[in-house]
Amino acid sequence: MPLLKAPHQISVVEAAPPKYLTTANVNLRKGSGTKHRVILTIPKGKNVPYLKKKGNGFKQNIKGAKKYSSTTYAAPSTKTPGTYVKGVLIVNKKYKLPATYNSGEQKQARKAVDAMIKKAKKDHVRLTAFSTFRSYDRQRVLYNNYVASHGKKQADRFSARPGHSEHQTGLAFDIGGANSKHWAENSFAKTKEAKWIAKHAHKFGFIIRYPKGKEKITGYQYEPWHLRYLGTTNAKKVKKSGKTLEEYLNLKG
Ligand code: DAL
Ligand code: ZN
Repeated sequence: MPLLKAPHQISVVEAAPPKYLTTANVNLRKGSGTKHRVILTIPKGKNVPYLKKKGNGFKQNIKGAKKYSSTTYAAPSTKTPGTYVKGVLIVNKKYKLPATYNSGEQKQARKAVDAMIKKAKKDHVRLTAFSTFRSYDRQRVLYNNYVASHGKKQADRFSARPGHSEHQTGLAFDIGGANSKHWAENSFAKTKEAKWIAKHAHKFGFIIRYPKGKEKITGYQYEPWHLRYLGTTNAKKVKKSGKTLEEYLNLKG
């Protein structure tokens, strides 16, 4: 089978911060504290990027200038729509997420990926997360580009349609090694980094989501680089079972 290149996946490094919903009007001030002048009021119900906590407020970057806001943000909600089976958020060709699901990387998953990268480094294996959270809109652009370059039939074998990508969950990480030439390529499977991942990823809570020879079940070609965070308990169980996530949970792909 000819190699299906995924050029944009290797050129884009994404780690979009989570968006927070304002639960009331948010006053952005010139400095920290209400004694400072209000520069901008963000209305209730807007998605805003979170930069970092500063005292009782949030420090935020609006058009390049650092401003301060009050604490009326709602964290990305765990009640956000999506299908959970045995506590596992399921996203595949059958189960989708709404466009409004825009949580950014999930904190726990990022912690796990960082720990994995650190441990690999100790083993003299260099890992990089080159594509992580992708919004619905970003996925739509990627998918449409693939359809334009490869045709729909082929694109559907390696790229998810918007709403159907695990990257939108903030729990999926595409991992590459030292040589970016192999990123998101079949050739990655043979690298020492891929071998390390296959052997150790479950200890950090990850599974290789699209295993070799399971396209009929998962809906996608082998992707030795695409890791899905499940937490260590589930990841170890899935790994031990030798099954895909669909088979393990008895789901349709
Ligand atoms: N490459 C995987 C299937 C995605 O687009 O999410
Ligand atoms: Zn991926």
